[in-house]
Amino acid sequence: MRDGLTGQIHFADNLDVLATLPAGSIDLIYIDPPFNTGRTQRRTQLRTVRSEDGDRIGFQGRRYDSITIGTRRFSDLFDDYLGFLEPRLVEAHRVLAAHGSLYLHVDYREAHYCKLLLDGIFGRDAFLNEIIWAYDYGGRPRDRWPAKHDTIFFYAKTPGEHVFDRDQIERIPYMAPGLVGPEKAARGKLPTDTWWHTIVATNGREKTGYPTQKPLGILRRIVQASAPPGGLVLDFFAGSGTTGAAALELGRRFILVDDNPEALEVMARRFAGVDGLEWVGWETSAAAIAGDAGAGRRRDSDDRC
Ligand SMILES: C[S@@+](CC[C@H](N)C(=O)[O-])C[C@H]1O[C@@H](n2cnc3c(N)ncnc32)[C@H](O)[C@@H]1O
Repeated sequence: MRDGLTGQIHFADNLDVLATLPAGSIDLIYIDPPFNTGRTQRRTQLRTVRSEDGDRIGFQGRRYDSITIGTRRFSDLFDDYLGFLEPRLVEAHRVLAAHGSLYLHVDYREAHYCKLLLDGIFGRDAFLNEIIWAYDYGGRPRDRWPAKHDTIFFYAKTPGEHVFDRDQIERIPYMAPGLVGPEKAARGKLPTDTWWHTIVATNGREKTGYPTQKPLGILRRIVQASAPPGGLVLDFFAGSGTTGAAALELGRRFILVDDNPEALEVMARRFAGVDGLEWVGWETSAAAIAGDAGAGRRRDSDDRC
Protein backbone atom coordinates (compact mmCIF):
# COMPACT_ATOMS: atom_id res chain seq x y z
CA MET A 1 0.00 0.00 0.00
CA ARG A 2 1.27 3.49 -0.88
CA ASP A 3 2.80 5.63 1.89
CA GLY A 4 0.38 8.11 3.44
CA LEU A 5 -2.73 5.99 2.92
CA THR A 6 -4.95 5.04 5.86
CA GLY A 7 -6.58 2.15 4.08
CA GLN A 8 -7.19 0.42 0.78
CA ILE A 9 -10.45 -1.35 -0.08
CA HIS A 10 -10.62 -3.76 -3.01
CA PHE A 11 -13.62 -5.10 -4.87
CA ALA A 12 -12.08 -8.31 -6.17
CA ASP A 13 -11.50 -11.99 -5.63
CA ASN A 14 -9.09 -12.10 -2.73
CA LEU A 15 -6.73 -14.59 -4.38
CA ASP A 16 -6.02 -12.05 -7.13
CA VAL A 17 -5.29 -9.30 -4.60
CA LEU A 18 -3.14 -11.54 -2.41
CA ALA A 19 -0.97 -12.35 -5.41
CA THR A 20 -0.13 -8.63 -5.78
CA LEU A 21 0.97 -8.10 -2.15
CA PRO A 22 4.69 -8.27 -1.44
CA ALA A 23 6.00 -11.08 0.77
CA GLY A 24 6.43 -10.05 4.41
CA SER A 25 4.46 -6.82 4.05
CA ILE A 26 1.58 -7.39 6.51
CA ASP A 27 1.62 -7.19 10.32
CA LEU A 28 -1.69 -8.87 11.09
CA ILE A 29 -4.29 -10.86 9.16
CA TYR A 30 -7.79 -11.51 10.48
CA ILE A 31 -10.19 -13.48 8.28
CA ASP A 32 -13.71 -14.75 8.71
CA PRO A 33 -14.40 -16.76 5.55
CA PRO A 34 -17.91 -17.83 4.60
CA PHE A 35 -18.62 -21.51 5.00
CA ASN A 36 -20.37 -21.95 1.70
CA THR A 37 -18.16 -20.85 -1.16
CA GLY A 38 -21.04 -21.13 -3.57
CA ARG A 39 -19.43 -23.99 -5.44
CA THR A 40 -21.57 -26.73 -3.99
CA GLN A 41 -21.25 -30.05 -5.73
CA ARG A 42 -23.54 -33.00 -5.62
CA ARG A 43 -22.04 -36.40 -6.22
CA THR A 44 -24.49 -39.26 -6.35
CA GLN A 45 -23.04 -42.58 -5.20
CA LEU A 46 -24.22 -45.65 -7.08
CA ARG A 47 -23.89 -49.33 -6.33
CA THR A 48 -24.29 -51.85 -9.17
CA VAL A 49 -25.90 -55.28 -8.84
CA ARG A 50 -26.04 -58.04 -11.45
CA SER A 51 -29.42 -58.16 -13.25
CA GLU A 52 -30.56 -59.85 -16.50
CA ASP A 53 -32.28 -56.67 -17.71
CA GLY A 54 -30.06 -54.08 -15.96
CA ASP A 55 -29.46 -50.61 -17.43
CA ARG A 56 -25.62 -50.83 -17.48
CA ILE A 57 -23.42 -53.22 -19.42
CA GLY A 58 -20.14 -54.19 -17.78
CA PHE A 59 -17.30 -56.68 -18.20
CA GLN A 60 -18.00 -59.52 -20.72
CA GLY A 61 -21.38 -57.98 -21.56
CA ARG A 62 -22.94 -58.66 -18.16
CA ARG A 63 -25.84 -56.42 -17.27
CA TYR A 64 -26.18 -54.50 -14.03
CA ASP A 65 -28.76 -52.36 -12.28
CA SER A 66 -27.56 -49.16 -10.62
CA ILE A 67 -28.92 -48.39 -7.19
CA THR A 68 -28.56 -44.90 -5.76
CA ILE A 69 -27.20 -45.17 -2.23
CA GLY A 70 -26.98 -41.49 -1.42
CA THR A 71 -25.94 -38.06 -2.48
CA ARG A 72 -22.75 -36.84 -0.81
CA ARG A 73 -23.65 -33.20 -0.87
CA PHE A 74 -22.20 -32.19 2.50
CA SER A 75 -18.80 -33.82 2.18
CA ASP A 76 -18.33 -32.51 -1.33
CA LEU A 77 -19.16 -29.04 -0.12
CA PHE A 78 -16.66 -29.54 2.64
CA ASP A 79 -13.84 -30.79 0.42
CA ASP A 80 -14.49 -27.84 -1.77
CA TYR A 81 -14.36 -25.45 1.18
CA LEU A 82 -10.90 -26.58 2.22
CA GLY A 83 -9.78 -26.54 -1.42
CA PHE A 84 -11.00 -22.96 -1.64
CA LEU A 85 -9.28 -21.88 1.59
CA GLU A 86 -5.91 -23.57 1.12
CA PRO A 87 -4.37 -21.39 -1.61
CA ARG A 88 -5.59 -18.27 0.24
CA LEU A 89 -3.98 -19.42 3.49
CA VAL A 90 -0.74 -20.23 1.68
CA GLU A 91 -0.74 -16.66 0.34
CA ALA A 92 -1.61 -15.32 3.80
CA HIS A 93 1.49 -17.03 5.20
CA ARG A 94 3.64 -15.58 2.41
CA VAL A 95 2.50 -11.97 2.87
CA LEU A 96 2.88 -11.94 6.68
CA ALA A 97 5.93 -10.23 8.15
CA ALA A 98 8.24 -12.39 10.30
CA HIS A 99 6.62 -10.85 13.42
CA GLY A 100 3.10 -11.15 11.94
CA SER A 101 0.11 -13.24 13.01
CA LEU A 102 -2.99 -14.75 11.50
CA TYR A 103 -6.38 -15.06 13.18
CA LEU A 104 -8.82 -17.39 11.40
CA HIS A 105 -12.43 -17.16 12.54
CA VAL A 106 -14.56 -20.26 11.88
CA ASP A 107 -17.54 -22.02 13.35
CA TYR A 108 -17.52 -25.31 15.25
CA ARG A 109 -18.38 -27.38 12.15
CA GLU A 110 -15.23 -26.34 10.27
CA ALA A 111 -12.80 -25.65 13.10
CA HIS A 112 -11.10 -29.06 13.36
CA TYR A 113 -10.46 -29.38 9.63
CA CYS A 114 -9.15 -25.80 9.44
CA LYS A 115 -6.76 -26.47 12.34
CA LEU A 116 -5.19 -29.35 10.40
CA LEU A 117 -4.94 -27.21 7.28
CA LEU A 118 -3.29 -24.36 9.21
CA ASP A 119 -0.86 -26.73 10.97
CA GLY A 120 0.22 -27.93 7.53
CA ILE A 121 0.84 -24.41 6.23
CA PHE A 122 2.20 -22.59 9.34
CA GLY A 123 3.60 -25.59 11.24
CA ARG A 124 2.21 -27.01 14.51
CA ASP A 125 4.61 -24.99 16.62
CA ALA A 126 3.18 -21.78 15.13
CA PHE A 127 -0.21 -22.50 16.67
CA LEU A 128 -0.65 -20.21 19.70
CA ASN A 129 -4.30 -20.27 20.71
CA GLU A 130 -7.74 -21.57 20.00
CA ILE A 131 -9.83 -18.61 21.10
CA ILE A 132 -13.44 -19.35 21.95
CA TRP A 133 -15.81 -16.48 21.31
CA ALA A 134 -18.82 -17.35 23.46
CA TYR A 135 -22.18 -15.64 23.11
CA ASP A 136 -25.66 -16.57 24.14
CA TYR A 137 -28.18 -15.71 21.51
CA GLY A 138 -30.59 -17.51 19.20
CA GLY A 139 -32.44 -20.82 19.19
CA ARG A 140 -31.95 -23.79 21.49
CA PRO A 141 -32.30 -27.24 19.91
CA ARG A 142 -33.87 -29.96 22.06
CA ASP A 143 -31.57 -32.81 21.03
CA ARG A 144 -28.12 -31.39 21.95
CA TRP A 145 -26.29 -28.61 23.84
CA PRO A 146 -26.96 -25.32 22.09
CA ALA A 147 -23.85 -24.35 20.08
CA LYS A 148 -23.06 -20.80 21.20
CA HIS A 149 -19.47 -20.20 20.27
CA ASP A 150 -17.17 -19.52 17.34
CA THR A 151 -13.51 -20.51 17.17
CA ILE A 152 -10.69 -18.13 16.31
CA PHE A 153 -7.32 -19.77 15.63
CA PHE A 154 -4.26 -17.65 16.37
CA TYR A 155 -1.03 -18.53 14.53
CA ALA A 156 2.31 -16.71 14.46
CA LYS A 157 4.44 -16.61 11.33
CA THR A 158 7.52 -17.05 13.56
CA PRO A 159 6.58 -18.08 17.11
CA GLY A 160 8.69 -16.14 19.62
CA GLU A 161 9.22 -13.22 17.23
CA HIS A 162 5.54 -12.36 16.93
CA VAL A 163 3.95 -9.15 18.24
CA PHE A 164 1.80 -9.71 21.32
CA ASP A 165 1.46 -6.48 23.27
CA ARG A 166 -0.22 -7.23 26.59
CA ASP A 167 -0.08 -3.57 27.60
CA GLN A 168 -2.27 -2.56 24.67
CA ILE A 169 -5.05 -5.03 25.50
CA GLU A 170 -8.13 -3.58 27.17
CA ARG A 171 -8.52 -5.24 30.56
CA ILE A 172 -11.83 -6.76 31.70
CA PRO A 173 -13.53 -6.98 35.11
CA TYR A 174 -12.73 -9.93 37.41
CA MET A 175 -15.63 -12.38 37.79
CA ALA A 176 -15.28 -12.24 41.57
CA PRO A 177 -13.66 -8.85 42.30
CA GLY A 178 -14.17 -9.37 46.04
CA LEU A 179 -11.56 -12.17 45.97
CA VAL A 180 -8.66 -10.15 44.49
CA GLY A 181 -8.58 -6.95 46.53
CA PRO A 182 -9.56 -3.41 45.53
CA GLU A 183 -6.38 -2.48 43.61
CA LYS A 184 -6.49 -5.52 41.32
CA ALA A 185 -10.24 -5.26 40.98
CA ALA A 186 -9.92 -1.64 39.81
CA ARG A 187 -7.22 -2.56 37.24
CA GLY A 188 -9.19 -5.51 35.87
CA LYS A 189 -7.59 -8.61 34.33
CA LEU A 190 -6.30 -9.62 30.92
CA PRO A 191 -8.77 -11.73 28.92
CA THR A 192 -8.00 -15.45 28.59
CA ASP A 193 -8.60 -17.56 25.48
CA THR A 194 -12.36 -17.58 26.22
CA TRP A 195 -14.04 -14.36 25.22
CA TRP A 196 -17.59 -13.66 26.35
CA HIS A 197 -18.97 -11.03 24.02
CA THR A 198 -22.46 -10.26 22.75
CA ILE A 199 -23.20 -10.52 19.04
CA VAL A 200 -23.85 -7.31 17.10
CA ALA A 201 -27.23 -6.20 18.42
CA THR A 202 -29.93 -5.91 15.77
CA ASN A 203 -30.81 -2.41 16.96
CA GLY A 204 -27.33 -1.41 18.18
CA ARG A 205 -25.24 1.55 16.96
CA GLU A 206 -22.68 -0.83 15.46
CA LYS A 207 -25.13 -2.59 13.15
CA THR A 208 -24.39 -2.06 9.45
CA GLY A 209 -27.05 -4.36 8.04
CA TYR A 210 -24.45 -6.82 6.69
CA PRO A 211 -25.68 -10.28 7.72
CA THR A 212 -22.39 -11.80 8.96
CA GLN A 213 -21.00 -8.71 10.67
CA LYS A 214 -18.75 -9.47 13.66
CA PRO A 215 -18.54 -7.30 16.80
CA LEU A 216 -16.03 -4.47 16.90
CA GLY A 217 -15.07 -5.52 20.45
CA ILE A 218 -13.65 -8.81 19.15
CA LEU A 219 -11.65 -7.09 16.41
CA ARG A 220 -10.39 -4.34 18.73
CA ARG A 221 -8.90 -6.92 21.05
CA ILE A 222 -7.13 -8.72 18.19
CA VAL A 223 -5.74 -5.51 16.68
CA GLN A 224 -4.60 -4.16 20.07
CA ALA A 225 -2.66 -7.33 20.88
CA SER A 226 -1.21 -8.28 17.52
CA ALA A 227 -0.72 -5.21 15.30
CA PRO A 228 1.87 -2.61 16.27
CA PRO A 229 0.65 1.02 16.27
CA GLY A 230 0.84 2.26 12.66
CA GLY A 231 1.07 -1.35 11.42
CA LEU A 232 -0.75 -2.82 8.43
CA VAL A 233 -3.77 -5.08 8.99
CA LEU A 234 -5.27 -7.24 6.22
CA ASP A 235 -8.76 -8.75 6.06
CA PHE A 236 -9.39 -10.43 2.72
CA PHE A 237 -12.91 -11.61 3.59
CA ALA A 238 -13.88 -8.13 4.75
CA GLY A 239 -17.70 -8.14 4.60
CA SER A 240 -18.89 -4.99 6.36
CA GLY A 241 -15.28 -3.92 7.09
CA THR A 242 -15.22 -4.51 10.88
CA THR A 243 -11.47 -5.18 10.82
CA GLY A 244 -10.87 -1.87 9.03
CA ALA A 245 -13.11 -0.04 11.51
CA ALA A 246 -11.13 -1.45 14.46
CA ALA A 247 -7.79 -0.67 12.77
CA LEU A 248 -8.88 2.89 12.02
CA GLU A 249 -10.00 3.48 15.61
CA LEU A 250 -6.70 2.17 16.94
CA GLY A 251 -4.34 3.98 14.58
CA ARG A 252 -3.39 1.03 12.35
CA ARG A 253 -3.58 1.00 8.53
CA PHE A 254 -5.64 -1.59 6.70
CA ILE A 255 -6.29 -3.45 3.45
CA LEU A 256 -9.78 -4.92 2.98
CA VAL A 257 -10.96 -7.17 0.15
CA ASP A 258 -14.41 -8.45 -0.73
CA ASP A 259 -15.96 -9.69 -3.96
CA ASN A 260 -19.59 -8.94 -3.03
CA PRO A 261 -20.96 -5.56 -4.20
CA GLU A 262 -23.21 -5.42 -1.12
CA ALA A 263 -20.15 -5.56 1.13
CA LEU A 264 -18.60 -2.68 -0.82
CA GLU A 265 -21.79 -0.64 -0.47
CA VAL A 266 -21.82 -1.21 3.30
CA MET A 267 -18.13 -0.31 3.56
CA ALA A 268 -18.66 2.84 1.49
CA ARG A 269 -21.18 4.00 4.10
CA ARG A 270 -19.12 2.80 7.06
CA PHE A 271 -15.97 4.63 5.93
CA ALA A 272 -17.71 7.73 4.57
CA GLY A 273 -15.66 10.83 5.28
CA VAL A 274 -12.48 8.93 6.23
CA ASP A 275 -9.38 10.58 4.73
CA GLY A 276 -6.65 8.64 2.99
CA LEU A 277 -8.74 5.76 1.64
CA GLU A 278 -8.12 4.21 -1.76
CA TRP A 279 -10.93 2.23 -3.43
CA VAL A 280 -9.69 -0.29 -5.95
CA GLY A 281 -12.13 -1.62 -8.57
CA TRP A 282 -14.98 0.32 -6.99
CA GLU A 283 -16.22 3.87 -7.27
CA THR A 284 -17.81 5.41 -4.22
CA SER A 285 -20.22 8.20 -4.84
CA ALA A 286 -21.95 10.74 -2.65
CA ALA A 287 -25.18 8.78 -3.11
CA ALA A 288 -23.60 5.52 -1.96
CA ILE A 289 -22.23 7.23 1.10
CA ALA A 290 -25.63 8.77 1.85
CA GLY A 291 -27.01 5.23 2.02
CA ASP A 292 -28.55 4.69 -1.41
CA ALA A 293 -27.98 0.94 -1.96
CA GLY A 294 -26.48 0.23 -5.35
CA ALA A 295 -25.23 3.76 -5.83
CA GLY A 296 -21.62 2.73 -5.49
CA ARG A 297 -20.52 0.71 -8.45
CA ARG A 298 -17.85 -1.54 -9.75
CA ARG A 299 -15.29 0.02 -11.99
CA ASP A 300 -15.23 -2.35 -14.93
CA SER A 301 -15.03 -2.35 -18.71
CA ASP A 302 -18.47 -0.71 -19.04
CA ASP A 303 -17.12 2.30 -17.20
CA ARG A 304 -14.26 2.70 -19.57
CA CYS A 305 -16.22 2.85 -22.83
C1 LIG B 1 -18.47 -14.02 6.88
S1 LIG B 1 -18.28 -12.67 5.83
C2 LIG B 1 -17.17 -11.59 6.68
C3 LIG B 1 -17.85 -10.69 7.67
C4 LIG B 1 -16.92 -9.72 8.32
N1 LIG B 1 -16.04 -10.36 9.26
C5 LIG B 1 -17.71 -8.62 9.04
O1 LIG B 1 -17.49 -8.37 10.23
O2 LIG B 1 -18.55 -8.00 8.38
C6 LIG B 1 -17.29 -13.32 4.54
C7 LIG B 1 -17.09 -12.41 3.36
O3 LIG B 1 -16.19 -13.00 2.44
C8 LIG B 1 -16.54 -12.57 1.14
N2 LIG B 1 -15.90 -13.48 0.16
C9 LIG B 1 -16.21 -14.77 -0.09
N3 LIG B 1 -15.40 -15.28 -1.04
C10 LIG B 1 -14.55 -14.27 -1.39
C11 LIG B 1 -13.48 -14.17 -2.32
N4 LIG B 1 -13.10 -15.23 -3.06
N5 LIG B 1 -12.84 -12.99 -2.45
C12 LIG B 1 -13.21 -11.92 -1.68
N6 LIG B 1 -14.21 -11.97 -0.79
C13 LIG B 1 -14.87 -13.13 -0.63
C14 LIG B 1 -18.06 -12.58 1.15
O4 LIG B 1 -18.58 -11.73 0.14
C15 LIG B 1 -18.36 -12.10 2.57
O5 LIG B 1 -18.61 -10.72 2.58
